[in-house]
Amino acid sequence: MLNRQGMGTTDLYARIDRYISDRFVAEDDALLNTLASIGEAGMPGISVTGCQGKLLHLFATLVGAKRILEIGTLGGYSTIWLARALPPEGRLISLELNDEHAAVARENLRGAGLAETVELRVGPALSTLPALKEEGQDPFDLVFIDADKPTYLQYFQFALALSRPGTLIIADNVIRQGAVLSAEPDDRDVEGVQRLNDFLAHSPEVTATILPTVGTKGVDGMALARVR
Ligand code: SAH
Ligand code: DHB
Ligand code: MG
Repeated sequence: MLNRQGMGTTDLYARIDRYISDRFVAEDDALLNTLASIGEAGMPGISVTGCQGKLLHLFATLVGAKRILEIGTLGGYSTIWLARALPPEGRLISLELNDEHAAVARENLRGAGLAETVELRVGPALSTLPALKEEGQDPFDLVFIDADKPTYLQYFQFALALSRPGTLIIADNVIRQGAVLSAEPDDRDVEGVQRLNDFLAHSPEVTATILPTVGTKGVDGMALARVR
């Protein structure tokens, strides 16, 4: 569909993304090399956009995060944006299922000078999350959920258990090009994020909303939940 300027919406979203990123998103070599490495390794091009990375960075700064947990590392692009918001003594733990993704991410984090700041843990998050709890980790200040969507609600519940009042929990991809509007989705990813969104809407444990986004990844949204 064309809008009044005669542009398709996809083109409009890409232009809006560029308008913002030209002004507010400076990607240095470490971030650009990370995106390149993901392409070269044949990994999926589903990292957050530069605009979204800057937003995550800003959120981490706003909550004064010293301890960040990420679920779903891929090549470490969002990891770098988040870790760069940490003070010198800050730490980020990122959970990744896929060995190859973790290997690529490890190299990218080293290139960004973040090898000491970021700890990667490889394995299914449904195993690595309870392990974090069992080893008595201090609560995290910010949790970014961005792994497989069918178990998003379980990831959120583990995130809550690893939080304190004031922790910010962010979940990526909770609008999915508007697919969440469907009452009977034929897609386990959509069902998974719908379960999280509906839980957040009613949970007395958090104050939450969804920030809709448009950009080079189309129409999506990030759920934002502050732990009470
Ligand atoms: N946060 C990244 C993108 C993550 S893509 C960024 O924006 O830069 C989703 C990642 O989650 C993939 O690397 C995938 O391998 C990983 N993943 C999928 N299922 C998982 C699971 N069960 N546990 C941990 N990670 C998982
Ligand atoms: C998909 C996953 C993501 O984390 C994302 O940001 C975009 C797309 C996907 O699995 O399709
Ligand atoms: Mg995502």
